[in-house]
Amino acid sequence: MKIKLSDGRVIPIEMHKVKIVQKSSLPPISQRLDAIAAAGYNTFLLRTRDVFLDMLTDSGTNAMSDNQLAAMMVSDDAYAGGESFYRLQEAVHDVLGFQYCTPAHQGRACENLIARVLVKQGDVVPMNYHFTTTKAHFDMAGGKVLELYHDDALETDSDNPFKGNLDPDKLTAVIKQYGPERVSFVRMEATTNLIGGQPFSLANLKEISRIARNHNIPVVIDCSLISENAYFIQQREPEYTAWSIADIVKEMMRQADVMYMSGRKSTCVRGGLIATNDVNLYRKFSELLPVFEGFLTYGGMSSKEIEAMAVGLREMVEPESASASADLIEYFVNRMVERGIPAVTPPGGLAGHVDAMRFCPHIPQLQYPAGALAAALYIVSGARGMERGTISMDRDADGQEVPSDMELCRLAVPRRVFSMSHMEYVVDRLAWLYEHRHLVGGLHFVEEPPVLRFFIGRLEPIGDWARKLADAFIADFGNV
Ligand code: F0G
Repeated sequence: MKIKLSDGRVIPIEMHKVKIVQKSSLPPISQRLDAIAAAGYNTFLLRTRDVFLDMLTDSGTNAMSDNQLAAMMVSDDAYAGGESFYRLQEAVHDVLGFQYCTPAHQGRACENLIARVLVKQGDVVPMNYHFTTTKAHFDMAGGKVLELYHDDALETDSDNPFKGNLDPDKLTAVIKQYGPERVSFVRMEATTNLIGGQPFSLANLKEISRIARNHNIPVVIDCSLISENAYFIQQREPEYTAWSIADIVKEMMRQADVMYMSGRKSTCVRGGLIATNDVNLYRKFSELLPVFEGFLTYGGMSSKEIEAMAVGLREMVEPESASASADLIEYFVNRMVERGIPAVTPPGGLAGHVDAMRFCPHIPQLQYPAGALAAALYIVSGARGMERGTISMDRDADGQEVPSDMELCRLAVPRRVFSMSHMEYVVDRLAWLYEHRHLVGGLHFVEEPPVLRFFIGRLEPIGDWARKLADAFIADFGNV
């Protein structure tokens, strides 16, 4: 939630109290310099003992509620027919309006099942934007991902409230070009992760759904950040200002034939979920579930997480939960903009994003400016972000680099974990880094896996810039 102060400022305000805390520490910059070298300049490979603020992701790192933790204590560990599953099924029905649900161990497991059931060799899969694991699964099933965003979606300095919209004209043209039988489904990602957590509007979803359904093409919504997308609809789409988050979510789900989610985000648990009202699709998912995940009533999740997901689904549509990270991100992004840091605007869900092409225009794209910025920010702050740029794209079938549409350094804001002072600290160190941006150089791979290379690939700085950057920092602040 946000609150207006007497001096006119609007600040994010926590509608919860902190009951359990975990100690964190800020290792000195000399230690951080060694740690990032040992991690191959890839923030995924850092150990958390070397990290002060873990802004790598909001996936599985959110603070759970007391009610979620309490529900975990009454879980039913039965291999088959466990009561925990039926409580999840009831929540799916009440919150999302779907009759059938399939648990899976996380979001990409849902993508695997959906790809196997719905994507045929030679198909196309139109979507508002791809996500890394999504594209990997649909590619492996022989499909081709088509990103049909509006032309201005990739502008990082923007006031378009719905950069996650899918362009209906482009969709109509694709259906005409390939024929509806070759379109596996249309996928809408609720806040497009890779272009800055940008939402789609409900009007756009309704239009896309109408076009798809007219051609008997299923609509699949990736609901990993559904509560944030619904919150942005309420905040930014005048027609829905008076609607509750719960009603907006239900209305969104009415436009979908299948929803799936990484439960690690909006529901604050470690798990995944597919839900539908289509019994035939449900049967197909169910046939594959025991092969890849586990029995129908646990699908690879622990029963404790299933209980917590049932509660998390109900809580994610409460206004306090849906706004918890979005409002802190808005504050974070606005502060970055005030300090002249090229942040992605408008603020999105999941993270504050810095545009590395504008931050470090001197670094060529194939020297990975976003990866370099993530490493540099870690060195000067101990905050660990994530590269979302060309490193996150894999090479094509001919081994050629595929330059990413955007070079973003993502600084995730997990729900109910960080405070305003954490945001102030990161903004301050980013501002210092921006003043010294000429000291940041590029990276090159020394170990490069062929698929999803961003996870475990190792890189090196081109030249000695990391040490020089640390020296300049120490000259200003000392070894902190
Ligand atoms: N879809 C979206 C939109 C996601 O953001 C993610 C994960 C997935 C699918 C895959 O789900 O991780 O549970 O298997 N995003 C994480 C992130 C990894 O850091 O943004 P998963």
